[in-house]
Amino acid sequence: MRFRRRASEGTRSDVSMSARRRVPVWGLLLGLGIAGCAGTQTPPERISSPGEALFNGRVKTDVTCYRCHNGDGTGTLRGPSLARRIPKLTDDEIVAAIAEGPGFMPSFKGKLDDAEMKALTAWLRGRFPKTNEADNASYP
Ligand code: HEC
Repeated sequence: MRFRRRASEGTRSDVSMSARRRVPVWGLLLGLGIAGCAGTQTPPERISSPGEALFNGRVKTDVTCYRCHNGDGTGTLRGPSLARRIPKLTDDEIVAAIAEGPGFMPSFKGKLDDAEMKALTAWLRGRFPKTNEADNASYP
């Protein structure tokens, strides 16, 4: 958006200047993305179930939910707090979300077998129980 605005307002030389600036700008954004929004992995000694271990990337290197949802599920800039989502979902809907990957979430289809999917869902359900007052819940 920024580049488009410049290109339409500026002269030819402005455009090439902004093109030259593009590399440092993207580098900065990437740096911020990695440093600023990465979730914190729950330490192994505080993990209490197989589902929590999976969520925290302790079991499979390609299953790292904590990176976007934080180790405790309360979310980061990359992914919403599951405390606001899980209470509104049925177990089947949780499984479907993990398999499909809504919005900017990647699909985990084929990366989790049935038992792992169950363990993950059970941990999420236990952590964020289904309530009728989900909208009023005072979770973070
Ligand atoms: C790359 C970041 C990222 C990763 C990794 C990730 N998620 Fe998500 N997740 C998201 C985003 C973004 C959303 C919100 C999607 C939307 O509603 O637009 C989301 C939404 C969800 C939801 C709510 C779906 C709904 O219908 O409200 C659940 C449940 C969920 N994620 C579970 C997980 C689990 C479990 C894992 C690991 C297997 C995981 N996520 C890995 C980014 C991520």
